[in-house]
Amino acid sequence: MHLDNTQSRKRILTGDNASGKLHLGHYVGSLENRVKLQNEYDTFIVIADMHTFAYPKYFSDPSTISDSVYQVAIDNLAVGLDPKISNIFVESSIPEIYELALIFSMLISYNRNLRNPTIKDEIRDKEMGDNYSLGFINFPVMQVADILCVKADAVPVGEDQLPHLELTNEVVKRFNSTYGNVFKDVNPIIGRVKRLVGTDGSFKMTKTLGNTIYLGETRESLKEKIMKMYTDPNRIHPTDPGQVEGNPVFIYHDAFNPNKDEVQDLKDRYTKGKVGDIEVKDKLFNALDSFLLPIRERRRYYEDNVKLVKEILAEGTQKVRQEARNTLDEVRDKMMLHRF
Ligand code: TRP
Repeated sequence: MHLDNTQSRKRILTGDNASGKLHLGHYVGSLENRVKLQNEYDTFIVIADMHTFAYPKYFSDPSTISDSVYQVAIDNLAVGLDPKISNIFVESSIPEIYELALIFSMLISYNRNLRNPTIKDEIRDKEMGDNYSLGFINFPVMQVADILCVKADAVPVGEDQLPHLELTNEVVKRFNSTYGNVFKDVNPIIGRVKRLVGTDGSFKMTKTLGNTIYLGETRESLKEKIMKMYTDPNRIHPTDPGQVEGNPVFIYHDAFNPNKDEVQDLKDRYTKGKVGDIEVKDKLFNALDSFLLPIRERRRYYEDNVKLVKEILAEGTQKVRQEARNTLDEVRDKMMLHRF
């Protein structure tokens, strides 16, 4: 990709942890916007593999992280990220990010990081107790370094990531006012669906809960997951009037079924007790299956061409590394760090 040195085009940076395949939650939160915005912005996608070592569940499992780097790259390509115009890069291959993260960690108070709501939620939801590393507490700062190493203007993310963007802007302000202007504020770009629920209606989607639908989901497993999906728990017979609001099956219909008339008709009949769960779910299956079909096919193409995926990652990473070097040079100059 051609990088414009004058930075006349604005930049977006976003990315994913290397902790397994991506799912529909990632799609509506961020992937969809990446694909849409890549023609308008210079686009940078980080595969945050070093980040993933911050999690107690993954730090002793390097082979899962290593494999996930490819899975996440393939998911991004499969939804339509175009490697000719977007840069997909691997965080751990850019030591400048670690250097920036260390520098930024001097600018943020320890207690402030502990109060980060995303950190607090994750400690609670993942039942970490006291069993988290110093690196875990510092991972938002590493995310700041991901974002600022290319001086991004905007970050397409799900709502859960907003505290990290607030932190980014604090670092920007702190750095600029202490050492001189290098960075500018970043803006969040939030996805069309604020927070997609799991297939069980839970607000957290995790592999352990088994409540996610993956982008690479096969037809068979898609069917199975949809048939097991939670609906209105108070509705026992198809003739009982049902509730549409907060009902996971209808939340997914709203998010993924392009046939709005069909969705409206199902909702009308559901509230009147004139349609069974099976029909509602069958129609959701058809909508999601057509949505996933081209993604599945592109996934297969890249899975069969891993060499191509490696080339794409190598090229993206080299380009971002150069950007990160330039940023770090400016940072070091402002901080009057010697070069011996
Ligand atoms: N922490 C993000 C997540 O859990 C992934 C991520 C890592 C990220 N670095 C980033 C997102 C930089 C946006 C910008 O999904």
